[in-house]
Amino acid sequence: MRSGERPVSTLFDQIGLLYTGDPGREEIENAALVVDGGRVVWVGPAGGAPDADERVDVDGRCVIPGFVDSHAHLVFAGDRTAEFAARMSGASYTAGGIRTTVAATRAATDVRLAARTAALVAEMQAQGTTTVEIKSGYGLTVEDERRCLEIAQAFTEETTYLGAHVVPPDASSADDYVRTVTGEMLEACAPYAKWIDVFCERGAFDADQTREILLAGTKAGLLPRIHANQLGNGPGVRIAAEVGAASADHCTHLTAEDVWALSSSGVVATLLPGAEFSTRSPYPDARRLLDAGVTVALATDCNPGSSFTSSMPFCVALAVREMRMTPLEAIRAATYGGARALRRGDIGTLRVGSRGDLVILDAPAYVHLAYRPGVPLVAQVWKEGRRLV
Ligand code: NIG
Ligand code: FE
Repeated sequence: MRSGERPVSTLFDQIGLLYTGDPGREEIENAALVVDGGRVVWVGPAGGAPDADERVDVDGRCVIPGFVDSHAHLVFAGDRTAEFAARMSGASYTAGGIRTTVAATRAATDVRLAARTAALVAEMQAQGTTTVEIKSGYGLTVEDERRCLEIAQAFTEETTYLGAHVVPPDASSADDYVRTVTGEMLEACAPYAKWIDVFCERGAFDADQTREILLAGTKAGLLPRIHANQLGNGPGVRIAAEVGAASADHCTHLTAEDVWALSSSGVVATLLPGAEFSTRSPYPDARRLLDAGVTVALATDCNPGSSFTSSMPFCVALAVREMRMTPLEAIRAATYGGARALRRGDIGTLRVGSRGDLVILDAPAYVHLAYRPGVPLVAQVWKEGRRLV
């Protein structure tokens, strides 16, 4: 908001199709919407809205809530082009590549890291993302994790401490590193983070370590979320349910018990199809989760190793084409689902009281995000009632 000025109210009129994300009234044809003071204050039929300071003629196009990208690793240096190229020639993905990015990140200045993060956030906004979660996890020393979170906090309130990404090569032992993650590093990072995350996977952290780290984080006032069941079956999803995590992310390899744990606990399953695309792996079975009543979110997992995309429209297209989600389920997961994964009631929807975060698509319907993959359909992006793009 410009200081000292009353925020401008804006009427978005002649909306061909409004996806509200509001379960009672999810889609409205020929709609209008008014944002005032950064919030949605009115939703109804085109032509029937109250007056506002400014009017935007949407001209029959589709309006959706800004995308909520609830899983991203944006603070890093270097890239892993060679690793990607090797994979496309048949090599398989391992979490070992994380160490390459850790070395580059440690060597980078704060200014360089902040500039890279800003560039990725700008890329995301240009593709319709108005809220992004940003994790640490490529520093893996007390000071490098702290500074990565401090940088992340300049871009979002949804910051996640992921000191437990992998055990760094310079740790004297895994046990010693877990002691640091739950002790000195947690103390340094907690003031900059809302969430705590653990990469619970063979080759990263096991069930006991994951529980210990999440418990320590919770005691320090952080909220738990987990990288779970990405590369194989494992305990991550069940631990997410046990500790009341907001979300279990990846969920690529699930047993029937895991699906039941998600549906009975209300933990959101955040699916990251960019990772399967970029690692040439089988996609998670979204249909199985949706049919069991699990709340599904879609996010980019933007990171230099397993998923170097910043595009929520691309993830929506993959979800529809590769994961048996309908276009409606995919748009819901990319907006409302992401908000649920971040325990946010003010974003991911366009109903009275929602934050004025919205996207005008250069298309008559959100189905076009999957129907016209790779086409730049994001015409305008508004956040808290102000135009970003
Ligand atoms: O979510 N799974 C762990 N972390 C990232 C990958 C990080 C990397 O390869 O650099 C992920 O896929
Ligand atoms: Fe991730």
